[in-house]
Amino acid sequence: MRILGIETSCDDTAAAVVDDTGLVLSSVISSQDSFHKKYDGIVPEIASRRHMATIIASVDEALLQAGMRIRDVDGIAVTYGPGLIGSLLVGVETAKGLAYASGKPLIPVNHLEGHVMASFLRDTAGEPQPLTGEDFPVLALIVSGGHTELVYTDRWLHYRVLGATRDDAAGETLDKFAKYLGLGYPGGPVIQRIGATGDASYHQFPRVMPGRAGYEFSFSGLKTAGINYAKSLPAGELQKHLADIVASFESAVIGELVEKSLKAARDLAPRTLAVVGGVAANMRLRESFARRASVRVYFPSMKYCTDNAAMIAYAGIRRAMVDIRAGMDLDACSSLGIEESSLGE
Ligand code: KG4
Ligand code: ZN
Repeated sequence: MRILGIETSCDDTAAAVVDDTGLVLSSVISSQDSFHKKYDGIVPEIASRRHMATIIASVDEALLQAGMRIRDVDGIAVTYGPGLIGSLLVGVETAKGLAYASGKPLIPVNHLEGHVMASFLRDTAGEPQPLTGEDFPVLALIVSGGHTELVYTDRWLHYRVLGATRDDAAGETLDKFAKYLGLGYPGGPVIQRIGATGDASYHQFPRVMPGRAGYEFSFSGLKTAGINYAKSLPAGELQKHLADIVASFESAVIGELVEKSLKAARDLAPRTLAVVGGVAANMRLRESFARRASVRVYFPSMKYCTDNAAMIAYAGIRRAMVDIRAGMDLDACSSLGIEESSLGE
């Protein structure tokens, strides 16, 4: 089985073809970063207009690179939520049009489920070895620009949310701190680059929700503490210690992610802890998990951590295997939760 995946939930226009072994036959991503950079954040109106301009070419390119025509695929999977509504609609309506014209099944995919499914993808590079059905139960930390949550999945397509952020997502926190410092967008990769040469013990930012039981996250207090600290410093001091301050902030965000995840891993004893989503590309985060975890920790390859359509196509494969289809009335849903796409107990 081979599925065409379409992803337009945020600011990347992506299309990909994946087969039922998880092999990525093509993965095309058209980044909009250059259009949003001057605003230091995503402008939803610009995002949907850019998706409209590039979606057809992205689908054509994905099929071309896979050496296929639309008639050769077994279905069309599309992200229908969560995300920016104007962005999601472009993908959903395009997928509907393609499904209707080609007579192929339309498969609805939850973006968060897609991030989890990135752990099962393999490409011709071969590294890292993907997870398989043998690796369940999986505890997934989904950590991106829009989401931070711990999800337990003991078999394909079954998801239980253990805890999520009460306010900002981890990636959003990095993006906002970078924006305040004038470092540009997206903030996560810039913070990683600048922080790499810094001393992470330079400043101790307050611990987030210390002592709180459970698996909820909170980052808005840390964000405010970071901005207030930067504000309180004389400009020269900030410039002189920029790398140290950035490294300290990055490591405070990471500390929260690692601690809550490892607590959940101790309590639930999953076979695998999968760290997925854009922030999972972070090197300091990877090193911290590797150093501290006693459970096996899996990271998808960098290119499948950030938004892509290969992960959506593979989620589509697993859904198609159990005959999940959508009709032409499929609607985009900006606040869709992963449990709403779970097959239940
Ligand atoms: O998964 P993603 O591409 O989009 C969403 O679904 O949100 O994640 C984007 C987020 C942004 O906040 C970005 O700053 C962050 O992932 N990010 C990183 C790194 N690469 C991307 N954060 C830290 N270190 C990185 N290397
Ligand atoms: Zn995402």
